[in-house]
Amino acid sequence: MSIKRIVVLTSGGDAPGMNAALRATVRTALYHGLEVFGAENGYSGLLHNKIKPITANTVANVIQRGGTILKTGRCHAFHDPEQRQQAISTLQGHGIDALVVLGGDGSFRGASLLSDEGGFAVVGIPCTIDNDIAGTEYTIGFDTACNTALDSIDKIRDTALSLDRNFIVEVMGRSSGFIAVAVGIAGGAEIILTPEFPLSMEALVEKLQAHERRKLTSIIVAAEADTPGRSFAIAREIARLSGIDYKVCNLGHTQRGGTPSAYDRKTASVMGFQAIKALLSGHNKTMVAVQKSQITLVPFSAVGEMTRYFSDQELLEMNEVICG
Ligand code: F6P
Repeated sequence: MSIKRIVVLTSGGDAPGMNAALRATVRTALYHGLEVFGAENGYSGLLHNKIKPITANTVANVIQRGGTILKTGRCHAFHDPEQRQQAISTLQGHGIDALVVLGGDGSFRGASLLSDEGGFAVVGIPCTIDNDIAGTEYTIGFDTACNTALDSIDKIRDTALSLDRNFIVEVMGRSSGFIAVAVGIAGGAEIILTPEFPLSMEALVEKLQAHERRKLTSIIVAAEADTPGRSFAIAREIARLSGIDYKVCNLGHTQRGGTPSAYDRKTASVMGFQAIKALLSGHNKTMVAVQKSQITLVPFSAVGEMTRYFSDQELLEMNEVICG
């Protein structure tokens, strides 16, 4: 199929670097003579015909901006086949042949359905601060989110040391502990709590008591897992079992915003460029990915289970050695 008109959209949670990816996608598409449209608010923009032409100027001065100029959303209505038919008619009305979807695993499932049911070619660019999409070692936004969290941990360490206090710093990561592990190691946290390697309260307290005999302050980095704010309950339980006091700082959505790092801007630019090249060379239902530190293309079907989990337990053991 020869591709002449594409729609670009950002879907799911925003991630710093989405704008840089959008810019590269749009400019590469225009370079190759394609007409480019943008849908607002993710898939909901397709359902409500919020589809507008995008020019090179639309994406001027956005490479340094966090968030997404197209806005994003989690569109539950898109699970309904009738609503998807509505989106397909709207896309056909605009003469669209292909879509580039910037988002996470759920967003790629939506893209796959559009391809199956509407015959569009679809390519995905992985964007989520969680770095947890199967099939790629990197997702846009992770580096910036880690740096944002690390900056906060460094600041917390100043006050922790000044008052001999202990802190639990909670970071994002619903299913995966990639942010917690990266930030915990880089921030010198004694303990890192991930969804993948849960620790019983008794085991946690035992580790803390071993540290307490030698240290005046301690920092735990905890992934939020399936209960954002869970660190308050963990702190209460530590106090009940051991009498050790922990303050809690939940970094929450601060990690999603801010100026994208150099690494995120560069990776996003390369991925945007490669997404259009992939479409033009006939790829469909394909994600631009990083594997073995190289940019590559991965079919959605090969991604299988679409969430990637942290599995390198040795890194956690290493951290306990170097923070002991
Ligand atoms: O962007 C990924 C993520 O930050 C997860 O870590 C988190 O659980 C989720 O999104 C929360 O996002 P929202 O508040 O937008 O639903």
